Amino acid sequence: MASSSVPALMKGVQMQHTGGPEVLQYRTDLPVPFPGDGELLVKNEYIGINYVDVYWRIGMMGTAPEGIIGREAEGKIVSTGAGDIGGFKVGDRVVWLSIGSYAEYTAVPSSLAFPIPPGIEPGMAAAALLQGLFALTLVEKIVHVKQGDWALVHAAAGGVGLWLCQLLRAHGAKTIATASTTEKLALAKANGADYTINYREEHDLVARVDEITQGHGVDIVYDGIGKDQTENNVQVVAQHGTIVTYGATSGFPGQVPHGQLVAKKARFVGPGQSSLMGNIGGEFQQWCAKLFDTMAKHNITIRIHRKYSLSEMRKAHEDLEARRTTGKVLVTP
Ligand SMILES: NC(=O)c1ccc[n+]([C@@H]2O[C@H](COP(=O)([O-])OP(=O)(O)OC[C@H]3O[C@@H](n4cnc5c(N)ncnc54)[C@H](OP(=O)(O)O)[C@@H]3O)[C@@H](O)[C@H]2O)c1
Repeated sequence: MASSSVPALMKGVQMQHTGGPEVLQYRTDLPVPFPGDGELLVKNEYIGINYVDVYWRIGMMGTAPEGIIGREAEGKIVSTGAGDIGGFKVGDRVVWLSIGSYAEYTAVPSSLAFPIPPGIEPGMAAAALLQGLFALTLVEKIVHVKQGDWALVHAAAGGVGLWLCQLLRAHGAKTIATASTTEKLALAKANGADYTINYREEHDLVARVDEITQGHGVDIVYDGIGKDQTENNVQVVAQHGTIVTYGATSGFPGQVPHGQLVAKKARFVGPGQSSLMGNIGGEFQQWCAKLFDTMAKHNITIRIHRKYSLSEMRKAHEDLEARRTTGKVLVTP
């Protein structure tokens, strides 16, 4: 069923090939997709930007249909395809996690859409979805964080980082946050970190962690940076601890020295095992419900770095890669 107001053409950002931010082309003449079986056509109102989008842009994640990347958005259903559409109807407001959000309209599988609960401010569902779901699985599924655990969160003022700081506080963990500037560290602290380390200025991160934890080390390392932190992570993890590596903003993690991990009886969870989609599997709806419950229960706040327009997508990518952003980057069509 279609709403009569769906146009034939739309604005969007398309890539003809992979590369730097310059491959992101703003267009005003892209065809509006048609929802297939089990799909919803959503008119996007807010588009969430993630570091993972950079990996898609440079070709680490495969090819997006029609050259349109972007994993998440919130908006209104304007038309539906045939078959089972999960009880959704035209006019419903949903947040979704699929591919192709860098556009005014996206056709998304109904199984990957979730109704936006009442009381959520416009933009906040798109701001929360991917990074929030991911952080939630990192503290409640990949690792079961316990009261009193020591946790180290790298790039703690980023989108996933600020979520982790708040969730770890809610679980009663003691968190050490790292970031590259004083302002970012202050933000991490305001979001729940107990201790901070500037890894750009302080050269002996291992000694600082040792001092803060009085020789215990950290029970959990959360690392989305990869290469630059591989060695440190192995040094700072405590006996029986866990290193969770889930990203590679500085490059792929180096070879993990297994001998040292074995000596500490520590566990290494690599990027493949920590992947969001792998971990929520067929339980997308349940995890979304849990996410919004958690936001309400623990009064989670989401810092919006800036709202860019679709035509500024290159600038949004440049800022993200140049480490100029904190919290969430949003785009409005
Ligand atoms: N596996 C999954 O399913 C999954 C899902 C979501 C996110 N992730 C990963 O989680 C990580 C964080 O994602 P996010 O979207 O929340 O991004 P983000 O943390 O908001 O942005 C990346 C941050 O990484 C830090 N960084 C350190 N070295 C860097 C370098 N060489 N180049 C660029 N940035 C560098 C910067 O903070 P400082 O300036 O403080 O160093 C930067 O602000 C990414 O690695 C992402 O791929 C993985």
